[in-house]
Amino acid sequence: MSNRQTLTLLKTLGIGTLNAGVWPESTAAPTKNSDHLDSFNPANGDLIGRVSLCPDDAYDTLITNSLFAFQTWRNVPAPRRGELVRLIAERLRAHKDALGSLISLEMGKIKSEGDGEIQEMIDIADFAVGQSRMLYGKTMHSERPQHRMYEQWHPLGVIGVITAFNFPMAVWAWNAFIAAIAGNTIVWKPSPKTPLCAIAIQKICEDVMTEHGYSGIFSLFVTDSNTLAERCVSDPRLPLISFTGSTPVGRHVAGIVARRLGKSLLELGGNNAVIVDESADLNLAVPAIVFGAVGTAGQRCTTTRRLLVHASRHEELITQLIHAYKQVRIGDPLDPNTLMGPLCDHAAVENYRHALQEAVAAGGTILYGGHVLPGPGYFVEPTLVHAENHWPVVQHETFAPILYVMPYQDLDEAIALNNSVPQGLSSALFTTRLQYAEQFLSATGSDCGIANVNIGTSGAEVGGAFGGEKDTGGGREAGSDVWQAYMRRQTNTINWGSKPMLAQGIQFDL
Ligand code: UN1
Repeated sequence: MSNRQTLTLLKTLGIGTLNAGVWPESTAAPTKNSDHLDSFNPANGDLIGRVSLCPDDAYDTLITNSLFAFQTWRNVPAPRRGELVRLIAERLRAHKDALGSLISLEMGKIKSEGDGEIQEMIDIADFAVGQSRMLYGKTMHSERPQHRMYEQWHPLGVIGVITAFNFPMAVWAWNAFIAAIAGNTIVWKPSPKTPLCAIAIQKICEDVMTEHGYSGIFSLFVTDSNTLAERCVSDPRLPLISFTGSTPVGRHVAGIVARRLGKSLLELGGNNAVIVDESADLNLAVPAIVFGAVGTAGQRCTTTRRLLVHASRHEELITQLIHAYKQVRIGDPLDPNTLMGPLCDHAAVENYRHALQEAVAAGGTILYGGHVLPGPGYFVEPTLVHAENHWPVVQHETFAPILYVMPYQDLDEAIALNNSVPQGLSSALFTTRLQYAEQFLSATGSDCGIANVNIGTSGAEVGGAFGGEKDTGGGREAGSDVWQAYMRRQTNTINWGSKPMLAQGIQFDL
């Protein structure tokens, strides 16, 4: 994309041009390095935009405004809150193309996946609209006569949402739209690698809300300072922190939030395996493995990182995968022919290089790829490596298109290998055997939050609860009954009779 096209794109989204696309809004263009953040295009290293960083005192104003907005918002009927989210979704539909392009430009995923991310936001918005009429509480039968017992759900307050670069818009939407229909206000700290994506979304939400007489429901602060991020995480005014990112940072965040007895919702690393058994249909398995391992250049938390293949199918599968990997067109993510864009930055390329060095040093064989491509841009080859599950590099999540291939002898062994990593996000089995499928999905099967059959590890729909166990952090976001995480449950018991009565048959006569 040329500079002129970039400026037109940013203008279409109303986020101004270089030096002016700032949020919180600032009249002065930043001059000192410490005032701003530069956003670069990972496909060519070009500067896309310059964003003001949130000053420390502006953070406090932001939280105060958000708390103030909460006082009103929590009293707006939930279906009306849903209606406002529906109107935001309309705006997302109208700008889908431009927003999808902005994701490709700033983060590097291919245009089709960028558009897919906007579709994912629209989907969760639609889901949230319906959910806004279904914030159900249970009623219970009281053990005491003339008593009524039920539970209801109230909003929590100001929700802090900290997101990663790889899904710079949709993961915020999973949290924010559900939190908003539940009556909360939302403060967003996006990844400093993708500030323009966040500003574009903030702008859309703020426009819609202002047009309908609301403000401060959604707010955003851009920072690259750990101090300000920690202040947010430690802030007792934020009852829930939703954090998406690496396991080490998530562990740190969870510790801080737990110490102040806040709630945290964690979406941390994955180390997802696909199992291909002796009966698998490779017409289903191969495209799913390639998309899972290569899609988003291996930078999804759901990326397929390990391939467990039955020894009898090993050669055949590797041959087909190498053939498929050769078709992966690497290049400009905005070119419709491209299937794999760049990694997000130089550090990601170094991580790719180090992981491969470590795998080879441990005895691994590179079956395909393995090279960093010449710049400009942070391009690498999608890579297949023969490895062993217990190697530290295989136990670790490297955000890059590296797939570790490991043969196995029987399904018990494959399931044990699937589960023998610290993370527990996603998993998949390719089989045509019903018994194997059921074994994989049973309580003694996959230990992951997501377990699929004849579907890859990535690309989950928003309707289900998304998240994983163990080092993935245990949080659930998006669909199903996840809305409950953004609300507080209140149990109410009413005595509508005229006699005082204690539960458990206790007599306490005065
Ligand atoms: C992420 O990588 O952080 O299931 C989220 C998927 C997407 C979401 C990924 N729907 O791959």
